[in-house]
Amino acid sequence: MAKKLFIETLGCAMNVRDSEHMIAELNRVERYDLTKNYSEADLIIINTCSVREKPVNKLFSEIGHFLKHKKPDAKIGVCGCTASHLGDEIFKRAPNVNFVLGARNVSKIIKAVNTEKFLDTNINYDESAYAFGDFRQNPYKAYINISIGCDKKCAFCIVPHTRGEEISIPHELILSEAQRAVRAGAKELFLLGQNVNNYGKRLGSGKKGGLNFTALLNELAKIDELKRIRFTSPHPLHMDDEFLEVFASNPKICKSMHMPLQSGSTDILRKMKRGYTKEWFLQRARKLREIAPDTAISTDIIVAFPGESERDFEDTMDVIEQVRFEQIFSFKYSARPLTPAAQMSDTVESEIASARLARLQERHTQILDEITPAYLDKVVEVYFEELRAGGVCAGRTSQNFTVCVKGGEEFLGQIKNVKITQPQRSILYGEVL
Ligand code: SAH
Ligand code: F3S
Repeated sequence: MAKKLFIETLGCAMNVRDSEHMIAELNRVERYDLTKNYSEADLIIINTCSVREKPVNKLFSEIGHFLKHKKPDAKIGVCGCTASHLGDEIFKRAPNVNFVLGARNVSKIIKAVNTEKFLDTNINYDESAYAFGDFRQNPYKAYINISIGCDKKCAFCIVPHTRGEEISIPHELILSEAQRAVRAGAKELFLLGQNVNNYGKRLGSGKKGGLNFTALLNELAKIDELKRIRFTSPHPLHMDDEFLEVFASNPKICKSMHMPLQSGSTDILRKMKRGYTKEWFLQRARKLREIAPDTAISTDIIVAFPGESERDFEDTMDVIEQVRFEQIFSFKYSARPLTPAAQMSDTVESEIASARLARLQERHTQILDEITPAYLDKVVEVYFEELRAGGVCAGRTSQNFTVCVKGGEEFLGQIKNVKITQPQRSILYGEVL
């Protein structure tokens, strides 16, 4: 009988892709099938995130829960960013864990499950040439890693300490993986990296890559059956004119741009080591709105970074007014080990941080309530990718808005025109034409 694998994936799209890689390997070599029920699993994997403190705190209570409910001989492994930065400490605090595999080492999953107390957290391991099997949680949308790690060292961010130095994956590997995914039915590619628009600066071999990010986008767009390309995350610092122009002019590139602002205050941006100013960010956003007016812009914002004054926060609110982001992911600053910001003493009180976050989120909700009603009676192109409860099929517009219609499998994997009949804040409801 096939063995069963339960995997819990926390955090970002890169973790989703790492989980897909492990699922594929475990299936190909060890014949594991996925289960949604951890009490029947022979192997339980938690693929962790450590960007903020909360999920890290949850890890040990979660391990305890799995230990209590698992089959007696089932193994438990901890993978991902928290595995990278806690390493051996995980065994110390949870001696029944069988293996700890860092974020950049998922290609070693077979060795990990077959070795007693396997630990590997080498954050500079180069697994870019590793040939993984094909497994995609969603066959219509193919996540593809184009780079690993990050060289930026933003003062608040633990990622460079968990995913190591930035290396780009050779474009030949990306193009062939893209072709395979498209042949298997994906009409959309989702390119992943911490700094995608810095692509090609350095390969794992130390050499410069053959293509930069815009050239890679143009090459991928030549794949006939491929209809849509998305990517995350680009860095505002590298949003030069060439990048914005290729984004605007290539019809296969979805008109959804993530511009992680973090703060609107130039002083705070400098303390964060983001490498750009408020003015640069605003000018890039203005240029984008000008040359690609149908683009939806999303962003990440951290409130209450150490030293953030009322005036600094007003600068962030000002950028929100000026750019009118279609989507904002906002977080209270969370001090992370190994980061320079964790040593800063001018921390902002928790109540002030909460009040700022609430104010920002409230204002953004109002902005969305101004934006979404304009979709009423509009016809949008939707790529359907998921069935939902109650006979609903869901997909996305090029701008990354979720659209739901009455319908089922007949729409999956199809691009259809949809007339919006009921635009709501986070979902547009409509009818297929
Ligand atoms: N490379 C990605 C960032 C990955 S982390 C990018 O530039 O978009 C994802 C988001 O988590 C960041 O953009 C940031 O807004 C948030 N984040 C990272 N570290 C954080 C911290 N210490 N506290 C609060 N939010 C943080
Ligand atoms: Fe983190 Fe900044 Fe890199 S947010 S992932 S160090 S670009």
